[in-house]
Amino acid sequence: ATNRTFTMIKPDAVSAGNTGAITKMIEEAGFKIVAMKKTKLSAEQAGQFYAIHKERPFYKDLCAYMSSGAIVPMILEKANAVEDFRKLIGATDPKKAEVGTIRNLFATSIEANAIHGSDSDENAAIEGSFFFSQFEQF
Ligand code: CMP
Repeated sequence: ATNRTFTMIKPDAVSAGNTGAITKMIEEAGFKIVAMKKTKLSAEQAGQFYAIHKERPFYKDLCAYMSSGAIVPMILEKANAVEDFRKLIGATDPKKAEVGTIRNLFATSIEANAIHGSDSDENAAIEGSFFFSQFEQF
């Protein structure tokens, strides 16, 4: 069945001018953009979004980084969306990301790794509704 995932282009990729190139790869891979905007998180909002990583050693840095500049969150639709999108973006660590994946092409470090992809249908719904109301989804 067609289902949804959530993504956001992270501050490193937005400020480097890669929003268009990444969005093109996403659409060419067959994902339909259901919702999209440019916005910026406060450190508190980043902390809320990444609350599941609260106990991880990289949490504080991650929240500072994710609130350091503009981001482009999106809700995407495609059959097998969550799994196929994670294949398109590649491994968290760009050094381990397969050639041709978004992180291989655009990420600069394990933290500034260009893009987010939800890890489950449940988290995709939670993360999507963090940024978008039902009136912003088409
Ligand atoms: P993502 O998988 O989208 O969500 C958690 C983020 O934490 C991850 O991307 C990276 O941006 C960041 N991060 C920083 N350091 C690490 C690390 N050592 N392991 C995993 N994620 C990290």
